[in-house]
Amino acid sequence: MGNSKQKKILVIHGPNLHLLGKREPGIYGNFSLDELNNSLYNHINSKEFDIEIFQTNSEGEIVEKITKTCYDFLIINPAAYTHTSVAIRDALLGINKPTIEVHISNIFKREEFRQKSLISDVVIGVICGLGKQSYLLGLEAAVVHLRKQ
Ligand code: DQA
Repeated sequence: MGNSKQKKILVIHGPNLHLLGKREPGIYGNFSLDELNNSLYNHINSKEFDIEIFQTNSEGEIVEKITKTCYDFLIINPAAYTHTSVAIRDALLGINKPTIEVHISNIFKREEFRQKSLISDVVIGVICGLGKQSYLLGLEAAVVHLRKQ
């Protein structure tokens, strides 16, 4: 449970990321979603921050989470919706919270359809291609950003 002074960082994992560890390990690595989430919970050793992590395969649930949850900073891997979702882009624009986009793989080194993100130009920054580290660096960036406020 958070307290009122804590800043809340919301992490959203999009579709098929529940399959991490089993899914195309040559691209996404051997770590499971639970292992990734535990690394995130353990990475920031400070009571200043409360981290909530959410995974869904549904575009609508991502929109609901972005627009109806209380948080100070968002780290999002929209997975396949990165390349297709006007709804997620509009949700980010609608809520206007500081956001970092992360990807496990380097989407710019992959198929052409993955090289376009519909959200990159409405977020603070993008971290991709570094495996689990993409998320951990995203979290560090969130902490730096929130401490500056
Ligand atoms: C991904 C890249 C997307 O193209 C893909 O659809 C995913 C995961 C990544 O983290 O590398 O599901 O967002």
